[in-house]
Amino acid sequence: MDTKVGIVGAGPAGLLLAHLLRREGVDCVVIEARSRAYVEERVRAGVLEQGTVDLLRATGVGARMDKEGLLHDGVKLRFQDRTHRIDIKALTGRAVMVYAQHEVVKDLIAANLAAGVPILFEAEVTRVEDAAGERPRIVYKQNGAEATLACDFIAGCDGFHGRCREAAPAGFFTTYDRVYPFGWLGILAEAPPASHELVYANHERGFALQSMRTPGITRAYVQCAPDEDIAQWPDERIWAELKLRLAASDGEGVNEGRIFQKGVTAMRSFVTEPMQYGRLFLAGDSAHIVPPTGAKGLNLAAHDVFVLAGALAAFYRTGAKAKLEAYSDVCLRRIWRAQHFSWWMTSMLHKFPDVAPFDRKRQFAELDAISASEAGSRFLAENYAGHPFE
Ligand code: FAD
Ligand code: DHB
Repeated sequence: MDTKVGIVGAGPAGLLLAHLLRREGVDCVVIEARSRAYVEERVRAGVLEQGTVDLLRATGVGARMDKEGLLHDGVKLRFQDRTHRIDIKALTGRAVMVYAQHEVVKDLIAANLAAGVPILFEAEVTRVEDAAGERPRIVYKQNGAEATLACDFIAGCDGFHGRCREAAPAGFFTTYDRVYPFGWLGILAEAPPASHELVYANHERGFALQSMRTPGITRAYVQCAPDEDIAQWPDERIWAELKLRLAASDGEGVNEGRIFQKGVTAMRSFVTEPMQYGRLFLAGDSAHIVPPTGAKGLNLAAHDVFVLAGALAAFYRTGAKAKLEAYSDVCLRRIWRAQHFSWWMTSMLHKFPDVAPFDRKRQFAELDAISASEAGSRFLAENYAGHPFE
């Protein structure tokens, strides 16, 4: 089998890339290790930047998002028994959309399959061959048999634990890494969210976040150990912590309900440079990870493939390679700004183990400064809503 662009991974990056390429008339094949049901139910991110929303709408996959998603004009910071609302709309003219990542994945799978884009599920890529040559190959296993897909280009959209990065010789990529001394325990519960906007709280007992999925479903997170044993967190303990950490005398409190999903996410910052080796291009989590505070991971993946699809389409139209050669630099500028923002939000809002009293006071002074300053609030809002896709 062969194709123009072989895409490894049917997460948001791989599926959106396939969708954008198909619209440009560029043939591609997506190879995914997991089943369709698995990727369609995998619970992860929930906040889409304005640029991601605009891209999904403009390319015909925004209808269900517009019907079922929740448009948010603001977000709240809660600390030291007070709440500060960042009015994203007033400060930037932009907004964010609360719409679950796995719903985006469902919409993209449906659009790709309807347009005839092949997605091979339960097909695990074992290696990429000859990435620096003219005709690289993806080797994968499906139904116990090995098969090969020959391509003009390979898009490594296989996430942080994927195999594509290994296709370059050792030492080719430079990586930048930071691991945080905490994680997030996330839940989904059948409870109407007490706050209609997201609340990011820095509390003496640690960080907490109240988000939502629908008007009847709360999504919430509490700071925990990076390797937290979820068995130590019966539902009552989760609710007790959420109530303590999200409480403020001017706040809305927390609504309880049946918890139907629980998981722990460790937190890291990670960047690979460059994002290209020969005819292999990395996109999304395979090239970079951000800690989730600020909700940038999925949005960065969308921007990467927006740039990559444009570069590949230009190449097939005119033979020009300039945009492909600029791919890494264009993406990395946005990625490092998002790295800074995610690190900053994480540092400002979490309680670090063994934190010095001075640094605790400094964190609250920073939150106070951001709240008191329109310029400070606008900086947060601009980054949260995301800069326009260029
Ligand atoms: P992925 O979604 O990881 O997709 C990669 C795909 O490649 C997967 O489907 C995988 O099965 C497939 N794959 C991997 N290896 C192979 C192989 N060898 N062969 C074939 N296929 C392969 N971001 C936020 O903004 N907020 C959050 O709350 C949040 N929570 C998260 C929770 C978890 C547990 C994780 C892991 C991430 C979370 N993120 C969150 C980050 C966000 O979900 C990611 O940035 C986003 O999924 C990136 O999309 P992607 O397509 O690049 O990678
Ligand atoms: C959600 C996740 C995030 O990482 C975040 O910053 C805000 C909301 C969510 O899952 O709803």
